[in-house]
Amino acid sequence: MAPASSSSTVPQPGRSGTSIRRGTEIREAFLTFYAERGHARLPSASLVPEDPTVLLTIAGMVPFKPVFLGQAERPAARATSSQKCIRTNDIENVGRTTRHHTFFEMLGNFSFGDYFKEQAIVWAWQLSTQVFALDPDHLVVSVFREDDESFRIWRDVVGVAPRRIVRLGEDDNFWASGPTGPCGPCSELYYDFRPGDGDEPLNLEDEDRFIEFYNLVFMQYNRDAKGTLTPLANRNIDTGMGLERMARILQKVPNNYETDLLLPLIEAAAALAGVDYRHQDESVRTSLKVIADHSRAITHLIADGVTASNLGRGYILRRLLRRVIRHGRQIGIEDPFLPVMGDAAIHLMAEAYPILRDRQEEIRSELVREEARFLETLERGEKLLAQILAAEPACISGEQAFELYDTYGFPLELTEEIAEEHGV
Ligand code: SER
Repeated sequence: MAPASSSSTVPQPGRSGTSIRRGTEIREAFLTFYAERGHARLPSASLVPEDPTVLLTIAGMVPFKPVFLGQAERPAARATSSQKCIRTNDIENVGRTTRHHTFFEMLGNFSFGDYFKEQAIVWAWQLSTQVFALDPDHLVVSVFREDDESFRIWRDVVGVAPRRIVRLGEDDNFWASGPTGPCGPCSELYYDFRPGDGDEPLNLEDEDRFIEFYNLVFMQYNRDAKGTLTPLANRNIDTGMGLERMARILQKVPNNYETDLLLPLIEAAAALAGVDYRHQDESVRTSLKVIADHSRAITHLIADGVTASNLGRGYILRRLLRRVIRHGRQIGIEDPFLPVMGDAAIHLMAEAYPILRDRQEEIRSELVREEARFLETLERGEKLLAQILAAEPACISGEQAFELYDTYGFPLELTEEIAEEHGV
């Protein structure tokens, strides 16, 4: 499809309101929008990437890295997918902020040497304002500091007021999947929950006011180990819209966890603990959110063939499993419960990801096995740690933490977490 004419302003939609609210509807609406614009609709790739340089699929573009680098045939000139992703780099924020997850779904549209900036920007705006019916007054966009072209497109083609276009530096608006590989400047769309607060200055880091929901990457360089950028043979588009974030916006709930993508798992865990999520203090709510988040992650990881171990992805799985168990115990779940959470996660997501149903038995037996193993380790380690922390003044040495790990198999991050909970 030809790019929108740069001489005219994109018509502003009449916002009659959208009926799209549920997670499944958002996913479908996104994929349909791009399929109608000539994109091949591709299934989610595995969480275990073919690319040996990354441990897990952390973004919708991971399966396409070789295509961007010109090392593999493009599957189509343009494609769209809903990709299951896992990021654990800021795992300690999960459940504590409104928007951090380990497992999440990234909706993406991709151009492999086909359309570029202007078309990507125009479609992103149309999708946001017409299909999802977001009020343009609630939208803010950011561009890479030096990217005058994107600034111009947002201002002159789309018609966004310059004061609602924020220029940001490399940390925010230059995207790469890792230290090396395909990368490029990006432009992000933010939802403003309080446009009445005014535009001066717009602090996009104010997470109570803004949420970034759609990232458009203009993938045009390859970065080598020395940090040198070499232009790619083709200019590409890689975008990502966080499904959970869009659900939060459209469902008008205070955080991603209270959307229909996660709330049923919070409720499943709350039922096991015999508590009501809505009437709990922050620490119980956080535990319920962690359990909900990680239950999705572990279920998908096992479905994609990961088994718990002390290495690589196996360790990530083990760590997530163990965090679920520990948070469960913190809120009073005494009996083994991982298989119940696994079943709840499968029930919630199998329609979108049928592999979960196909692998239900393997998922269940892995959860049973790992939970039994960990409960033994945990009981022994927690007793020892409680003795250490009971001393006055409470303090734990590196040597003691090491012994807990080395001799008793008690994970260091749990020692750290528990020590922190005791103010140590
Ligand atoms: N790869 C980019 C991101 O993860 C856009 O999809 O944000």
